[in-house]
Amino acid sequence: MNVSGQWVSERVVAWQASHGRNHLPWQQTRDPYRVWLSEIMLQQTQVSTVLDYYARFLDRFPNVQSLAHAPVDEVMGLWSGLGYYSRARNLHRCAQQVVSDHGGEFPATAQALATLPGIGRSTAGAIAAFCFSQRAAILDANVRRVLTRFLGFERDLASAKNERLLWDLAESLLPTEGLETTMPRYTQGLMDLGASVCASKAPRCELCPLSLQCEAFKSGTPERFPVRTRKLSRRSESWRLAILRDEQGRVWLQRRPSKGIWAGMHCVPVFADEDSLAVFIASLGDASHRVQESLQPFLHVLTHRDLHLHPVLIRGAVGGRPTEEGDWLGPEQWTSVGLPAPIRKLLDEAQAQLW
Ligand code: ADE
Repeated sequence: MNVSGQWVSERVVAWQASHGRNHLPWQQTRDPYRVWLSEIMLQQTQVSTVLDYYARFLDRFPNVQSLAHAPVDEVMGLWSGLGYYSRARNLHRCAQQVVSDHGGEFPATAQALATLPGIGRSTAGAIAAFCFSQRAAILDANVRRVLTRFLGFERDLASAKNERLLWDLAESLLPTEGLETTMPRYTQGLMDLGASVCASKAPRCELCPLSLQCEAFKSGTPERFPVRTRKLSRRSESWRLAILRDEQGRVWLQRRPSKGIWAGMHCVPVFADEDSLAVFIASLGDASHRVQESLQPFLHVLTHRDLHLHPVLIRGAVGGRPTEEGDWLGPEQWTSVGLPAPIRKLLDEAQAQLW
């Protein structure tokens, strides 16, 4: 890249101040609860629709405690009409987790925010930038379009590796000075550019503060970006990993089925979604002496699959046999049974942190 990040951020920040949106209700606050609520609502819904819902929601649930303590049906009811209802279910779960695990305060870093239900990396970055001026990148669909065009990013975003590379580039362009004001403005500026000037069809490059150095503009075919093929053989899956640890530091490991991913290897119990993990944890019985902690989710790239792994560490009173098949195995046995590399790494790291 032969253009400096500083050039980009200065231009986006200045453009946002004069041409961006600055009067939306969620821009008049740095309260993470309000910003989070707006970002979740805006994930798949237009600003004009969100405005009414946002006001009604805050009227009924003015803070994270009131939302956490509400019956889920009432939350779903208020969401009704906005669509994508998993957002509402996660919203409620997230509020409960903020109250139960974080003393009612949203954590102040993108990394910590991204461990909460319904908060992906981009939403976490947006909240951290808006509320805490953290140098965190965002990469929603609009911003992905702005950045791939500006950078002339030709690589296929169907690949997780390329997606990661784009995240790295997005981070390298972030402001480095005056973060208190520049981070919120830069973040909003990229969103605003993507929502207006850098439209997916017929972008209005003549209005863009970045066009002078924009590779897509220079090439004359900006609509070509972003590049993404849908490779049928490549799929993405999300797995919940239950790391059960007993008082002696042993972990409950099961043999994987003889076909499919990690066939025949040992692994912690895997669940396809949050609900089945919850059912499993409930089956462990009395929770009073048990501690449960979500660890940093991470991506594991296989040849035909992107595995998004979400580990949960459960320790304390988890004796007995949590599942029919399996064994409690200590670190000295992990090598001999054959663990998939990312599982081995996960257990080693957790072990090193003296959990
Ligand atoms: N879309 C996602 N976040 C947004 C925001 N903060 N303002 C306007 N549109 C958005």
